[in-house]
Amino acid sequence: MGNVFVLDHPLIQHKLTYIRDKNTGTKEFRELVDEVAALMAFEITRDLPMEETTIQTPVVETKTKVLAGKKIGLVPILRAGLGMTEGILRLIPAARVGHVGMYRDPETMQPEEYFIKLPSDIEERELIVIDPMLATGGSANDAIHSLKKRGAKQIRLMCLIAAPEGVEVIKKEHPDVDIYLAAMDEKLDDHGYIVPGLGDAGDRLYGTK
Ligand code: URA
Repeated sequence: MGNVFVLDHPLIQHKLTYIRDKNTGTKEFRELVDEVAALMAFEITRDLPMEETTIQTPVVETKTKVLAGKKIGLVPILRAGLGMTEGILRLIPAARVGHVGMYRDPETMQPEEYFIKLPSDIEERELIVIDPMLATGGSANDAIHSLKKRGAKQIRLMCLIAAPEGVEVIKKEHPDVDIYLAAMDEKLDDHGYIVPGLGDAGDRLYGTK
């Protein structure tokens, strides 16, 4: 069964408070999301495999460890996922980045995929799908189905904030996917916004309405 990890590190929670605050402007919001993404990447990569190597320090030869070279792929869901991507790349600079574009059909309210571009070797990569707001779970669910259809085998989902409804959808549809959150909020409102949430992540990142 997929696990849900709420990363309640004090630095993450402190920054998340200012991200939520409606008086935080676009520039600061973007910087804070970027910082939280990097801090979350630090936590998410705790279990990356390591291997032993031997090096020469200025003093002696010593055995030490390096990453075992597991290939990582980041897959931000457009457009809000882009706001977390650079922060993660600062810690995992060799990661490849795929993009998935989803929009919500105003008639059916169902997410539709309008763009997908992925690294050619996704089946060999540990993929981190990035969706800052896991609300109904529709976009993340569809994006993960799409990645699996194209051969992805190992997927994690990284979000800033989730509603219980979205988490349930992912747990039910993708029990193999671990979910990493900065916060689990109370609920969705009638317009599909997470409560208390932070508003529209894309609009706040890019200063649109
Ligand atoms: N998407 C957002 O950007 N915010 C929400 O609260 C829900 C979905």
